Amino acid sequence: MNFKTIAMATTVLCLGFSAVTAQETPQAKREQMMKQIGGSVGALGAIAKGDKPYDAATVEKSLTTISTNIKAFPDQFPEGSEGNSEAAPAIWQNNADFRAKAAKLGNDADTLLASLPADQAAVQKAVQTLGADCSSCHQTYRMKK
Ligand code: HEC
Repeated sequence: MNFKTIAMATTVLCLGFSAVTAQETPQAKREQMMKQIGGSVGALGAIAKGDKPYDAATVEKSLTTISTNIKAFPDQFPEGSEGNSEAAPAIWQNNADFRAKAAKLGNDADTLLASLPADQAAVQKAVQTLGADCSSCHQTYRMKK
């Protein structure tokens, strides 16, 4: 690892991908991004269900993680990284559509951030909107193991 790589990794860390390091494979990187997205939707879901009390900071943090990660996500699919992951071949065959689906989730998260869901009912609606974006991409682009 040269200095530039380390500097880049540090920048990435500052952006909040705390568990991502420069030495990880593209597969591990993108899975980590998705795991964090999954964790964030989980935190929103707990508020939506009433398992956790409404908390504006948690809502904002979760939406920010989703937005940041999904914007970087489509760049984690270099040629040759098909194997050893749940990434469907369609990602490479139909990359513009794949990117559009990622952008849709990014936009929806940003819209919610701009007008933060302010109570449990609003978080429920947010989870529905985001959840539809997850499924619409996973259906085509995530293979079931
Ligand atoms: C633009 C497409 C796209 C969108 C939108 C998307 N995902 Fe994914 N997701 C994928 C792909 C592709 C994989 C498989 C990645 C791999 O294995 O390399 C994946 C994998 C995952 C995983 C498994 C990660 C692991 O441990 O391997 C989780 C959890 C996940 N997504 C959650 C979500 C949630 C929650 C949302 C919605 C908020 C979402 N995803 C939205 C494409 C997407």
